[in-house]
Amino acid sequence: MGTTGLQRYLDYNATCPPLDAALKTQAQAAREAFGNPSSLHASGRAARRILDDARDTLAAFIGAESGSIVFTSGGTEANNLAISGYCATQSSGHIITTEIEHPSVLQPVARLQEAGWQVTRLRPNAEGVVVAADVAAALREDTRLVAVMAANNETGVLQPVAEIGAICQHHDAVFLVDAVQVLGKSRIALRDWKADFVSFSAHKIGGPRGIGVLMMRRGVRIREIAPGGGQERKRRSGTENVPAIAGFAAILGKIGFDALSPLRDGFENALIAALPDAVIFGKHASRTPNTSMFCIPGLDGETLLMQLDLAGFSVASGSACSSGKREPSHVLLAMGVRQEQARSSIRVSFGPSNTPQDATALVTELARIRQRLRSMAGAA
Ligand SMILES: Cc1ncc(COP(=O)(O)O)c(C=O)c1O
Repeated sequence: MGTTGLQRYLDYNATCPPLDAALKTQAQAAREAFGNPSSLHASGRAARRILDDARDTLAAFIGAESGSIVFTSGGTEANNLAISGYCATQSSGHIITTEIEHPSVLQPVARLQEAGWQVTRLRPNAEGVVVAADVAAALREDTRLVAVMAANNETGVLQPVAEIGAICQHHDAVFLVDAVQVLGKSRIALRDWKADFVSFSAHKIGGPRGIGVLMMRRGVRIREIAPGGGQERKRRSGTENVPAIAGFAAILGKIGFDALSPLRDGFENALIAALPDAVIFGKHASRTPNTSMFCIPGLDGETLLMQLDLAGFSVASGSACSSGKREPSHVLLAMGVRQEQARSSIRVSFGPSNTPQDATALVTELARIRQRLRSMAGAA
């Protein structure tokens, strides 16, 4: 059973419990390589060595050059750095992105729009897939940036980033791929994606919190968004978080989500068998192997989440809280899902510690909750 205390943990897309290798390496580097990697003395040089080694390891793992790796505080900063940092080098123009991106893409793009940039936000099809031909049709002479995620964090739906990369290659626009949800889950194919920027985060695959990477293709320039001491080749200032960076490098390849599709598919089959009116979003699209987003019509997602929490299951709901109001998932709405269904949605994201028993127990609990809520409604 994938447990934290007595909970069955089924929320790996939110974050993954840290692997021992991350904790140990991080603690060791914090103790032994505490120097500032910019310092010239022995302690500084020791930290620099760890930083350089980690950069090489990460670059080799994702198939990039070491010089293209910029360490950031996570996926959010990597996306912001690519978008705001690149657009700051351009006079305003046009940006293409999608309605299903993570807020760390949607928000900096919205700010640029407030500052006079023009933005096209593409809708995915009903399965949650962005259509590459729509990107081609939206490209304009003044398009400077195209930003499309590799996999959606809510539905797990994989996006045709290689096709989009091929389209952007024949255009001046740079291409950003938010790959936070594919690292460790699906193939990273930088060469095929032809991306200029790719963002990653460590904590989704058992690495430390607050560390990420922006891969920048050689020759692409950005303007720092938090100028300072000029670290990371003047691309991201601030003393590098060497312990977290070492912890990130230490866990690469140590965790695999790729064998989880039988578990996820078994869960979805059992769900439909027990609750035939349940709707699984993006079911017919290619998805990351661990993710299932669904709704049980008539049940509010937040209520379900709390009932499941009490019963010992950690899952996520599709709705997000903003200024005290619950907003239905922007991803499902963009796919054309009705408001009530979007509000009922639940995301389950399995990890390597989960077992078929976790999946079966979850289906049994969902059926029990629905039965209980129905009898309460009947009694009222
Ligand atoms: C697709 C996607 N992009 C970016 C992020 C942000 O990453 P971080 O938590 O490292 O800032 C997340 C995290 O939820 C994500 O799922």
